[in-house]
Formats: sequence, structure tokens, C-alpha cells
Amino acid sequence: MQIFKVGGAVRDRLLGIPVTDVDRVVVGATTEQMVAQGFRPVGADFPVFLHPKTGEEYALARTERKSGRGYGGFTFHASPDVTLEEDLIRRDLTINAMAEDDQQNLTDPYHGQRDLEARILRHVSPAFAEDPLRVLRVARFAARYASLGFTVAPETLELMRQLSESGELQALTAERSWKEISRALMEDQPQVFIQVLRDCGALKELMPEVDALFGVPQPEVHHPEIDTGLHTLSVLEQSALHKQPLTVRWACLLHDLGKGLTPEEEWPRHIAHEHTGLKLIKAVNERFKAPKDCQELALLVGKYHTHCHRALELKASTLLELLQSFDVYRRPQRFEEFIGACEMDARGRKGLEQRSYPQADYLRGAAQAAREVAVQPLLEKGFKGPELGEALKRERLKALKAYKDKASA
Ligand code: CTP
Repeated sequence: MQIFKVGGAVRDRLLGIPVTDVDRVVVGATTEQMVAQGFRPVGADFPVFLHPKTGEEYALARTERKSGRGYGGFTFHASPDVTLEEDLIRRDLTINAMAEDDQQNLTDPYHGQRDLEARILRHVSPAFAEDPLRVLRVARFAARYASLGFTVAPETLELMRQLSESGELQALTAERSWKEISRALMEDQPQVFIQVLRDCGALKELMPEVDALFGVPQPEVHHPEIDTGLHTLSVLEQSALHKQPLTVRWACLLHDLGKGLTPEEEWPRHIAHEHTGLKLIKAVNERFKAPKDCQELALLVGKYHTHCHRALELKASTLLELLQSFDVYRRPQRFEEFIGACEMDARGRKGLEQRSYPQADYLRGAAQAAREVAVQPLLEKGFKGPELGEALKRERLKALKAYKDKASA
């Protein structure tokens, strides 16, 4: 049997990027031979094994054919007579379809190295269409390697367009899609992921609520970039520049969905978009089964981002309501993420990327002031149950009034 490194490990080594996980393909072996050598079979769907010592993945060379809709609809053929070239041709991109042996001799029948040098993401063959998840994968790779100058080949974008228009993306499971989306959002240029999905018509299929933001104008005084879709891309870009966590990036993507529902006669204003957007945010959250913390933050940012921008003008009672809604006493981290997302929203505007955002520290200070109100003296006064809650609120309101007075002095 012969063993080759394949996929990302070969690609990233040639790009000079640290390799994290290594996949290997085994040519000329049977399942029985692998097991006899101590490999542990793990693939429920495919003949994949873990190395007994290193735990790395070894897959038998295979060919694949699509036999139906969705990911379940695959048949594969793995046998010792499947060649390395046959295994590589079923893969997604030419830069992912190279193999190398122990001496780093490259097998590159589909010119992956040429495309690496030319900075092109190009599909290997029409077999690309057999897994619609690849539309998201290509957009994710585009986001990851944008800073190196990579772009999607026109013919690949066209194939991605056909796949999107065919309705095949609807057959993807929430779990597979979310895995790609969440990884893409954590790349250096997550806005490129959304842009590429839009360019091939996939955004309309996957997140029509986000797609609908393109072409929707906002008031130029607050939004020199005008277009709500472009604004959303800039907010995402800022979220990566500021190394925000996934929760914040997800909230950034969804914060303005309500603007896509504003009747044209009301443009460029978007009165109450924070409220109209909530049902859309909920729908997108649920479509991809986003983790609970992502779902929660996206809804809170959607509902309250304009509160944050106007923080310095808020009455003490409104400030208190805001802090209560976030349960800042028990969930300080979530409030910090909210502030982060709102700051990205403020900076994701053309020419305003470097602006200061005093609202952030102002709200942090307000949260601190409310948090410092001690419960003990109220307990000692005999307050219990709902009355204790009310008394606590009154004290916090007092503290916030004092905080406001001090801040404006
Ligand atoms: N692959 C594919 N189509 C998919 C998933 C994977 O063709 N839908 C192939 C590609 O050749 C890919 C390899 O399987 O390089 C390994 O897949 P994976 O580990 O998911 O990705 P990597 O390319 O290693 O990239 P990453 O750095 O994102 O893990």
C-alpha cells in the first residue's frame, strides 16, 4: 500500500502556512489490511481510519457518485484498484486536490500548484456539483485567503451559481451549513464569505434576509456608504479587525435585518427597524440552529443597538431597563459582547472606521454603577421577594442618576 498526505496539509505547506491537521489517503489497501495493522475504523459513511498512535486520519482512496439529493445521497467505491488520480478528481478545488508522499514528491494532476501561484480557487471537475456544501466551502476559502490575493475562478463561480439556482442548497443540513458559516465568520475577512455567496446567488438561497439589504439606502449623514448591504459587510470586516468572538460576528451580520423590510416610500429612514428585524433574526438563527449564545446576542443586538449608540442621551430609567434586559448583574460578558457589536456597527461606515465610540465606556461605567448597589442593606431593612426586587431597582436607578450627573458634570 502507498500513503499520501492530501488536501489542506499539502495546500498550506506550499503556501507556507502552518499545517494544523493532516489527512492521508491510502492507495492499494483493503479495510481488512488496515484493521490488521491496528488502524481504528471511524467513518460511518466512508472507509476512514485513525492511526493507532498519532490519531491522524487515513482514508482509503475512493471514488464517489451522487445517487440522490442531499448529503445522504452518495454511493462510493473504495477498493485497492482505485488510483490516487481517481481519488483526487472527486475533490472540490484544484488547490485541495494535490498529494505528496513522505519525501514531499508532489502528485498534482489537476494543476493545483499552478492555481496556488496564480491565487485562483478553481473546481477540479464537474464532480464539484455532487456536494452543494462546496459552495459554502469555496466562499470560506475565499474569505480565508483573500489577504493572499485569492479569487474564485469565473467558471467556478458560474458552477456555484448553477448549484444555487438548482435549489440544491436547501438540502444541506443546518449542522453542516453552520459549521461552514461559523468557520467562515472567524476568518480574517468574513465579509468576503458573504460577498462571494452573494456573487453566486447563494446568499439569496441561504439568507434571503441578508441578501435583501443590498440596494436598500440609509441616510447619508449617519451612513456615508448609503447601502445597507455594504454597511453590513463593513461591520463584519471591523468585527474581524477587532478580533471579536463568533457571537459578536454573528450579531454583526444580522443586526440590521429589519431595514430590508422598510417600505420603499420610507427610504432612506428605517423607523423601528430594531423591532421589525427581530422575527427575521429569529428565523435565520433557527434555520442554522446557531448555538444559544449566538442566537441570544444577535436578538439583543438587533433590538438594542440604537440604544447603545444613543447611550449618552438615555434617561437613567431607560439605562436601567437596558441593563435589566441584559441581566448585567449575572451576565457581564454578554453585555460586553453587546457593546462590542454596537461599536463595530458604529465603525463599519465609510470613512468613520477610526471614530471614537465613547458610548462603550459610558455603558461599562453605568453597568458598574448598577452592579455596585449592594443587596445586603436592603435585606437588613427586611425587604423580601418582589419587594426586594423593587427596592433594588430603586437603588440602582438612584445610582444611575448619580452616575449620569457625574458624567455630564
Ligand atoms: N473535500 C472535498 N469536498 C468536501 C470536503 C472535503 O473535496 N465537501 C476534500 C478536499 O480535498 C479537502 C479535503 O477533502 O482538502 C479535506 O477536507 P477538510 O479537512 O474539510 O478541509 P481542508 O481542505 O483540510 O481545509 P481546512 O484547512 O479548512 O480544514
